[in-house]
Parts: sequence; structure tokens; C-alpha cells
Amino acid sequence: MRGYLGKKSVLVTALLASTSIAQAADVEVLHWWTSGGEAAALNVLKTDLAGQSIGWVDMPVAGGGGEAAMTTLRARVTAGNAPTAVQMLGFDILDWAAEGKLANLNDVAAEEGWDAVVPAALQGFAKFEGNWVSAPVNVHSTNWVWANKAILDELGIAQPESWDDFVVALQKVKDAGKVALAHGGQAWQDATVFDSAVLSVGGTDFYTKAFVELDEQALGSDQMVEVFNRMATLRGFVDSNFSGRDWNLASAMVINGEAAFQIMGDWAKGEFLNAGKVPGDDFLCFRVPGTQGAVSFNSDQFAMFAQADAGAQTAQGEMARAIMSPSFQSAFNVVKGSVPARTDVPNDAFDACGKQGMVDLADAAANGRLVGSIAHGHANPAAVKNAIYDVVTAHFNGEYDAATAAANLVNEVMAAQ
Ligand code: GAL
Repeated sequence: MRGYLGKKSVLVTALLASTSIAQAADVEVLHWWTSGGEAAALNVLKTDLAGQSIGWVDMPVAGGGGEAAMTTLRARVTAGNAPTAVQMLGFDILDWAAEGKLANLNDVAAEEGWDAVVPAALQGFAKFEGNWVSAPVNVHSTNWVWANKAILDELGIAQPESWDDFVVALQKVKDAGKVALAHGGQAWQDATVFDSAVLSVGGTDFYTKAFVELDEQALGSDQMVEVFNRMATLRGFVDSNFSGRDWNLASAMVINGEAAFQIMGDWAKGEFLNAGKVPGDDFLCFRVPGTQGAVSFNSDQFAMFAQADAGAQTAQGEMARAIMSPSFQSAFNVVKGSVPARTDVPNDAFDACGKQGMVDLADAAANGRLVGSIAHGHANPAAVKNAIYDVVTAHFNGEYDAATAAANLVNEVMAAQ
């Protein structure tokens, strides 16, 4: 009898142990998706995970572009208390992987066949030394304009096709007494506009030479002076209250008819949709005039921080699997404004802007015109990115002229490497 009980309790203990290994713990998710549109998209993720009994512990750190979130992350990891999953961009992922802090997702990636469906440009940031370390949730791109259709109709402005047309259109709005360009004066927003200014002047070859290869001559070239001249032109079309304004409040100015245009990544579409606006009827989306054919992308990924606890590891694997499922990629990106991070997701559920985004991405990737966003950490590691921010913002705020900006860019970028 005693022997039987003993065996049984061994069995029960073994069962409990295996359950605790198999059972997913909660995930604590650090992210910066706090605007209306972003929160709506985040809810799609929360609901999806809840349906799979993965609990969610929310760790939002407000601030577009994620700088504040990355500061919080550093503090958490230094304190030995890394969150389970972290929204992260580009080179930041590779930096954390190089520090040995990220979990290995190879098992789930192999089971789900990620290698075959995730585009090479994204794999370059999701894999470190051949191992999967993060799960890409989307592809955004920064070279978009969001326009209030009623204002354009009222002023007889057709969708501008070239940079010069765009400037004419902006002037027309300004002359009519409205805000031409809705903008928030924060370094990452200035830099987001800068992505497009660079593309409009020199296309992806110049962009790559200057901001990926960090070629000294390209950084200090006449073309770069022209880039800064274009930034100054745009600066002439923002309202006097632009300093410090959050990006979603700038989007709201276009949504509410206070302003005609915003240059912003396609997360802006999430704000329009969240306000009940319809593309083509209420607002227009088009590539920044002069950048058609090129795509400056950024992909939000969830990097998983290595955890000792088996339940936490299981949850990470399940979260990564859920994120990469085709149905989730469709449902989430329809709301977020981005396009799927896998190439095999049907475009049926996407609106006209989303469909265009998918076509543009595939076309740019196939023709060598897909570049990583400077502003969103897909062209350089944080030190260089921040050096570029400093120059772009100082110039945008009128601290120095375009020629000085180009010269400073060379110095700052060289010093930051
Ligand atoms: C980007 C991020 C987007 C969007 C945006 C504004 O860096 O990739 O998903 O959230 O910031 O917060």
C-alpha cells in the first residue's frame, strides 16, 4: 500500500512538473503604443493572446519612436528585471542580441517555417548570428503623406506628383490661411520627415551611400545641402505651436481639418481609422512626392528577453507563434496602418492605402529600392542615429543654415562611430 501511494505521488509530482513546464506564464510586454490608433492595434494582439490563455502584463512607455521605452528597458535590464517581450526596432535588436540578452526562437521559427516567409530585409534584424531572436509584427514605412481631402477639394489642389508640385500645394494652403503642414517638433519626427527629404533629393542610391555606408563625401555633399534646404522649406509651412507636439496630435490636425498635410509613417493611418475616417473619402495617402518607387521601412518586432523560468519561456514561444500567424498579421496590420511582416498574407482585408503599401514594399524590395529608415533605427545603431537627430533638429529649429548642417553632419556622424 505504502509502495503504491509512493509511486502515485511520484507520478503526481512528475505530472505537476511537466504541467508547469508546458503551461505558459503571463507575458510582460514593454511597448510605446499609447496613441488611440496604436492602442486599438495593441488590443488586437492582447485579445489574440488572451484567446490562447496567455496573460498580458502591460508595460507602456509613451513616446513615439520609442526612445523613452528604450531608456526604461535599459534600466530594467540593468536591474536584472528584463520584461518578457519588448517592442523594438532594427539595430536595437541586434545590439541587445550582441549583449547576449535575447532568447533563441529557432524552435518556433523552424516549426512555423519563418525562413521561407519573412523577407530578407526583416530577417537582417530578426536574426543574430543565424539565430532568430525576435518576431516581426509588421512593416511600416516613413515616406508617406496624409492629406485632408476636403481641404484639397476646397482649394482645388490635385495630389502632387513631384517635390515642386508639393511645395506649390503647401503654399496654396498657407495662402488660404490654414496650416499647410501638421508637424510635431520632436527629434524623431523631424528625422522621420528627413528620411523623405533625403530620398526626394538623391533617391535610394544617395540615401544608401550617405546614411548606410556613411560615406563622408556623400554626407557633406551639395546634395546634402539641398536636403537641408528642403527641410527648411518644409519648416516654413508648419504652425507656430509645432514645438514638442506629439505626432498623433499632428495627425489630429489633419483629421479635424485644421491642417492639410502630414508627412509621417503609416502608423498615422491608424489615427485616421480610429477617428472613423475613410481613405479616399476623408483622407488621402500618397508617397512623399519625389520619393515614389522608394520605400524607407521600419519593422516593429517583439524581441524576447532570455528568462530562466520555464513557464515564461513557453509564453515567449507561444507569443512569437501567435504574432507570426497569417491571420493575426492581417488583423493587426489592418488596424495599425502597417503591412504584414510575411509575404504570404492575402491583401483582402486591407484598405486602399494598405494595398498600396503592400505593392510598394514588394516592388521596392524586388528592385533594390527598399532602405531602412534613418529615423527609426533601421539604417544605423543608436549612437549614429542620435548624432543625425541632433543635426537635423538643430537645423530644423533654425540654429544654423543648410551648408553648416551638412558640415556638422559629417563631423557628428564620424565622431559617433
Ligand atoms: C515607430 C513605430 C511605430 C509607431 C511610431 C509612433 O517607431 O515603429 O509602430 O508606433 O513609432 O509611435
